[in-house]
Amino acid sequence: MGIAVQSLSKSFGDHQVLRDISFSINKGETTVLLGSSGAGKSTLLRMLNLLESPDQGTLNIANMEFTFHKGQKPSPSSASAKACQLRRKVGMVFQQYHLWPHMTVLANLMEAPVQQGISKAEARDKAIGLLERMGLPDKANAWPSSLSGGQQQRVAIARALMLSPEVLLFDEPTAALDPAITNQVVEIINELQASGITMVVVTHEVDFARKIASRVVYLENGEIVEEGTAERFTAPQTSAFKSYLQH
Ligand SMILES: Nc1ncnc2c1ncn2[C@@H]1O[C@H](COP(=O)(O)OP(=O)(O)OP(=O)(O)O)[C@@H](O)[C@H]1O
Ligand SMILES: [Mg+2]
Repeated sequence: MGIAVQSLSKSFGDHQVLRDISFSINKGETTVLLGSSGAGKSTLLRMLNLLESPDQGTLNIANMEFTFHKGQKPSPSSASAKACQLRRKVGMVFQQYHLWPHMTVLANLMEAPVQQGISKAEARDKAIGLLERMGLPDKANAWPSSLSGGQQQRVAIARALMLSPEVLLFDEPTAALDPAITNQVVEIINELQASGITMVVVTHEVDFARKIASRVVYLENGEIVEEGTAERFTAPQTSAFKSYLQH
């Protein structure tokens, strides 16, 4: 199983930002989350690795299950041991890369695995291998600030892959990149999909979404309006998604 969410809801104060969200994704699929600004895409993505706690609902991901009940203190909380275990299996890549500026590329990649007890030699070998896979074999000793945006994003993807996650979450990974560089990210995501990793990608860019998606979830105002396979791009079944695709 990949990911299944059942009746997830979330409010910030009086503002309900996600309402009764249910969907499931098979292992190895790439799902894009689309919707206009404020629809709740990032909040939903962050819930998938419990950076945000749902108010209620059930989350199944990476063979772990989390249930939340309204009115109860979030349990497990985002800081619980179980949530930490989840985040080792569910990696995340952000629009702004979030590399540590005071560490070289290699040190950025080695940090988390070494913290978790993997030997430095093993972490280094894995890091070098991933940098090669990302087309950055000569950047191991570079500082993040000396890299282009596209290179930094590939380092961020390599870093997320260091823990061999079962699921990789991306929040607008190409929003800061120009179109040619976006295609490098497309190639990487498609290669990762071929290797069996389950991915969920938030994006505003419909062209990018079409190139990577095997499934699509379209949100409006915190609710799923349309959800299905990538065929929905050519045959949308709601007028709302159809009109979203046209602008
Ligand atoms: N920590 C928070 N506290 C209060 N409100 C929040 C918080 N995080 C998100 N929101 C609100 O929840 C709604 C959904 O936000 P979210 O960031 O999930 O939208 P989004 O679809 O990712 O938008 P964008 O495309 O602009 O990134 C917005 O109205 C936002 O203001
Ligand atoms: Mg967002």
